[in-house]
Amino acid sequence: MTVLSEEVLGRSVVARLAVREKALERRMVRSLDRVEERLLACVGEASGPLLADVVGHLVTAGGKRIRPLLTLLGAEFGDPGAPGVIEAAAVSELIHTASLHHDDVMDEAVIRHGVPSVNACWGNTVAVQSGNWLLTKAAQMAAGLTSEAVPLQAEASERLVRGQLRELVGPTRPQDRLPHYFEVASDKSASLLSFALRLGAFQAGAPRGVDEALAQYGEHLGVAFQISDDLLDITAPSAQLGKEQGKDLAVGVAGLPVLLLLDAGHARDAELRALLNRPAGLEGAERDRALELLQRSEAMDHARAIMEGRLSAARAALAALPRGAARRALDALCGVVAARTA
Ligand code: FPP
Ligand code: MG
Repeated sequence: MTVLSEEVLGRSVVARLAVREKALERRMVRSLDRVEERLLACVGEASGPLLADVVGHLVTAGGKRIRPLLTLLGAEFGDPGAPGVIEAAAVSELIHTASLHHDDVMDEAVIRHGVPSVNACWGNTVAVQSGNWLLTKAAQMAAGLTSEAVPLQAEASERLVRGQLRELVGPTRPQDRLPHYFEVASDKSASLLSFALRLGAFQAGAPRGVDEALAQYGEHLGVAFQISDDLLDITAPSAQLGKEQGKDLAVGVAGLPVLLLLDAGHARDAELRALLNRPAGLEGAERDRALELLQRSEAMDHARAIMEGRLSAARAALAALPRGAARRALDALCGVVAARTA
């Protein structure tokens, strides 16, 4: 099984995207280094007690840097050297980091990017307030970018919050579980990927039509990415994930394989269904047993097939974009997402 470690995925994505695109690869690596410098500069701009330590914690712990990479790739459809492109890529990562501060509070997560989560180190109040600071910092930076940046950021943030709340509240009826899952995945995961790509394109002055195609691609890629996360939560050990394995089961959030298994209602899955139907989340031996049964279930293959369908739809959306290295790189990114769970 090839599972890319969450911690090494960042740079290796660039390497894997651009095997035959050396010029693009060099540009991406150079630009990502500049994004990193900008992120550290943001941390340096945090003043007052605690803040620099807290907001620097996840920024320096690393992460895949998928969102800044998408902003840089979106910018390739215009002038990638345009002023503000690096700043825009940093904005994408800051919003993501803010959402992780808040998400880890909601999920009571203790590990993120392979280090203790912000809430585990400083408590929930500090994690929420520092998340707010990161979001505000991103808004401040967006205000100095293209005129589309602030409305796009507002829309993405609204969708992130809506997605989280939808997930928390759950579907109204059992038969709504699957459509509900896709709405949540679209809002809480795809929205920011779509945002990152579009922001890059606008900042670089890309031609008309590019925005719509990137939005469609980002929506499908984002849902596929969420499904790959759900699969990894079941298959990958914590050390590889940089976060706790089986966390979805622990907090009672049903990933796509769980929903598909419950919907299928096969008699052979009765033991697993009984575990999954417990109202509280699963811990200890019960969680290990549920993970073991899930790993062997048909629902995993079914979820993988749905993910592949979304990746095909993402690839199809690329047809509306000008041909070239950036389009090929976005196509290759679909392969990288598929390979996470291969
Ligand atoms: C990870 O989900 C969480 C997200 C992708 C979005 C979280 C969004 C919020 C908390 C809303 C607040 C938004 C802003 C802009 C501050 P997960 O728990 O499925 O993934 P994980 O396993 O990586 O934790
Ligand atoms: Mg979480």
